[in-house]
Amino acid sequence: MRSVATRGDPRPIGIMDSGAGGLTVVKEVRRVLPNESILYFADAGRLPYGPRPAEEVRTFVYQIVKFLVAKGAKAVVLGCNTATAHALDYVREKVDVPVIGVIDAGVRALASSPVRAAGLIATEGTVGSGAYQRVIKERLPGVEVVAEACPDFVPLVEAGLVDQEGIERAVENHARIFRKTKIDALIMGCTHFPLLRPWLEAALPGVRMVDPARETAEELKRVLEDMDLANASRDDAESSGAELEFYTTGSVGDLDRQIEVFLGLTGARVHHVDLSML
Ligand code: DGL
Repeated sequence: MRSVATRGDPRPIGIMDSGAGGLTVVKEVRRVLPNESILYFADAGRLPYGPRPAEEVRTFVYQIVKFLVAKGAKAVVLGCNTATAHALDYVREKVDVPVIGVIDAGVRALASSPVRAAGLIATEGTVGSGAYQRVIKERLPGVEVVAEACPDFVPLVEAGLVDQEGIERAVENHARIFRKTKIDALIMGCTHFPLLRPWLEAALPGVRMVDPARETAEELKRVLEDMDLANASRDDAESSGAELEFYTTGSVGDLDRQIEVFLGLTGARVHHVDLSML
């Protein structure tokens, strides 16, 4: 009989985004931490976050983090660059569980290979906050940053990548500036954007695409281990017991389809959350 370790902290990880973009973070967290259960929260009823004032995003993110903690989350990942830019420090001070963002991780991923000039594509909120620019200046002084807000990418991804022509047009439109400035890496600084990677690579051949998700998952792993919060690794991976549960302030059907398209999962447990509950 195979022995299955039962020690460890089985409580779930909370991961939030304004919509389906954070599923790119869920994918990496599942890869790096296959034993961890996940509660995912999509604030699709209030998407997009990009154009919203910082204070409003902060309020929304805090509401969601409180919701996830009340559901038992032992740690929360802001799987959204806009949320990280505007709310990470604020939320960290307010809750007792560790809260992890994606921006530091994005800069670590950028630093993993030599870079002289980096492009940044993100929402107008993330670009305008200067959060990436600040961390890059601190950690990689001398690296030039060319930032471009691409709010039009978000609805194309939310719609499940069905409008191929629209995607090509939008990507081409934004890629121009990076051809002129000759970047060697492009930070996909909105969690929706790695889903456009094939189009971005086609439009900018030779440019290294930087996705903060893997580094975010690695940081989460370090934090869980350091704080003794990890779920025990089991020798029987098939029965890790890790569960996924999804919440949305938008349409359950939409999130269900996005989970199928972006994570390849069918029959996920998706619940609607009324905004008045937050
Ligand atoms: N996925 C979010 C991010 O990483 C932004 C999408 C939105 O504008 O709501 O910034």
